[in-house]
Amino acid sequence: MNKITEIRKAVFPVAGLGTRFLPATKAQPKEMLPIVDKPLIQYAVEEAYAAGIRHMIFVTGRNKRAIEDHFDTAYELETELEASHKHELLALVRSLSPEDMDCSYVRQPRSLGLGHAVLCAQPLVGCEPFAVLLADDLMCGPENGDPVLTQMVEVFKRVQTSLLAVQEVPADHVKRYGIVAGEPAGERLIKVNQMVEKPSPEAAPSRMGVAGRYILTPGVFAHIRNNSRGAGGEIQLTDGIAQLMTTEGVHAYQYHGKRYDCGSKQGFLEATVDFALKHPEVGPEFQEYLKAHSIRR
Ligand code: UTP
Repeated sequence: MNKITEIRKAVFPVAGLGTRFLPATKAQPKEMLPIVDKPLIQYAVEEAYAAGIRHMIFVTGRNKRAIEDHFDTAYELETELEASHKHELLALVRSLSPEDMDCSYVRQPRSLGLGHAVLCAQPLVGCEPFAVLLADDLMCGPENGDPVLTQMVEVFKRVQTSLLAVQEVPADHVKRYGIVAGEPAGERLIKVNQMVEKPSPEAAPSRMGVAGRYILTPGVFAHIRNNSRGAGGEIQLTDGIAQLMTTEGVHAYQYHGKRYDCGSKQGFLEATVDFALKHPEVGPEFQEYLKAHSIRR
């Protein structure tokens, strides 16, 4: 069988509890929280689609039905919109699941960690490289440039190894990230030789923090499976990737663009303001509102 070098599948781990957003996430998934008018998960799916990926695999849990419904046909709504000649809205609703896009769902029975969630997708991924997107990391490519995952797919074609999106983070933030270190391997590229989950600033080998975009080779599954629980008592993806480095090369890519940590309230609010300002419908009026607001304060 020929080795598959194209990235055809994306895994979206969406089974976390979203405790930082309680009570909003008590009965609905964090990934359905909207930035202006679009849920976080849709931004991530659109990023994967733009990178040429057509098979979306969601690792879901309890209370996540809304995600399945979001990417399914909504007969009643579509019939209503059609009958009332709301053609633009109808096209918008239908555009959520293009005909050439397949969605699969697998359950993670308990929130045992990101590594475990990725492992749950193994039967659907099979033996080929795949992307992982964490929807609560909202990634914004540079203006007039490629989205972050598209940049990564291009880099993957050259390096043909697992590839992690990284960014430089402030020293006092390293404890929030998986941190990598290694040798320079080309423009914006590092050959990773160390990876540690949420280190203290003193123990961090660098300030290169992993953002929620990965391209992984299927070899990672065996390493996740062999790992015991790591930081926070969870089965960590970072530990699986650190183990993978003992058998395969792993690169980190310093992406062009901006990341919003929408798993935190601060990041969520920053994204909301920035996306609202850029929004064609509400942007100009919202800008006026902010100006008036800052004068009042
Ligand atoms: P987070 O730790 O940011 O998400 O995991 P969380 O656990 O949902 O949020 P908090 O910390 O309680 O507020 C990063 C991503 O990994 C997924 C989450 O859904 C999120 O997209 N995840 C995490 C799983 O799918 N399963 C898990 O067991 C843990």
